[in-house]
Amino acid sequence: SLPTVRTVADLRAQVAAWRGQGLRVALVPTMGALHDGHLTLVRRGRALADKVVASVFVNPTQFGPSEDFARYPRDEGGDAAKLASAGCDLLFAPDVSVMYPDGFATSIDVGPVTRRWEGAFRPGHFNGVATVVTKLLLQGLPDVALFGEKDYQQLQTIRRLVRDLDIPVSIEGVPTVREADGLALSSRNAYLTAEQRAVAASLNRVLRDVVERVRAEPGTVADAVAAGERALLAAGFDAVDYLAVVDVASLEPLERLDGPARVVCTARLGKTRLLDNFPV
Ligand code: PAJ
Repeated sequence: SLPTVRTVADLRAQVAAWRGQGLRVALVPTMGALHDGHLTLVRRGRALADKVVASVFVNPTQFGPSEDFARYPRDEGGDAAKLASAGCDLLFAPDVSVMYPDGFATSIDVGPVTRRWEGAFRPGHFNGVATVVTKLLLQGLPDVALFGEKDYQQLQTIRRLVRDLDIPVSIEGVPTVREADGLALSSRNAYLTAEQRAVAASLNRVLRDVVERVRAEPGTVADAVAAGERALLAAGFDAVDYLAVVDVASLEPLERLDGPARVVCTARLGKTRLLDNFPV
């Protein structure tokens, strides 16, 4: 079974021992409920480093008061077995009291890149993500840490944070892992009914259509976005929180395509928010 540590001291001791042997270490931060997307990060970590540490911590500070923190799926035994089979060497699974002891007060705000899109719909979310990721990077001090493109604004927020704070860890983005019908794997897909699951598959198709359309006619971003929103509602989504063509680094919306861009979207099925994005 997978070696597991629950304190910062034990994590640091193991990483320091590996480093002392000249080994490179990768870190894969997660909130558990692991699926093949997470395990792809672990396998990529294996390719980039000699040892892979995964963290499983459902981070309370990145959930809003009415969000799913309490019901977020938790299965440490199942997660540990999956991590071991993907070639992970160590699990870091701290309690909330280890990450946020009494008196904890710091919150990291990464600024403009966090304001729009997910940040606008989930106030405080990226402060929680930035704070916990900073802690995990400084606790483990890996050579490289891996994050999915699935959460594209999160990935760009972490890149900004690591540069701004001179955290000596290289950040590796990993392309989104999808189901056969193109739905991005997500722990929250477990919340979908069979009927909602069928609708969910249209999200990636609509976004691909938006990409094709703005590539063909770079001046018509607004029309392509409006058509995409209509298509999502027609397919059965209950709401579109946002659909936008954005600059890859700043996440600012683009009116016309004149550089590297990304189409980003969150649409709702009932209470479940489904995120996806594609390069343009
Ligand atoms: P979580 O949602 O568990 O995701 C952990 C990592 O897996 C993130 O980097 C996420 O982008 C990546 N991931 C999720 N689904 C993926 C998919 N289908 N393909 C590729 N990668 C995927 O994101 C978080 O946790 C948290 O915010 C965290 C960074 C751990 C901080 O608490």
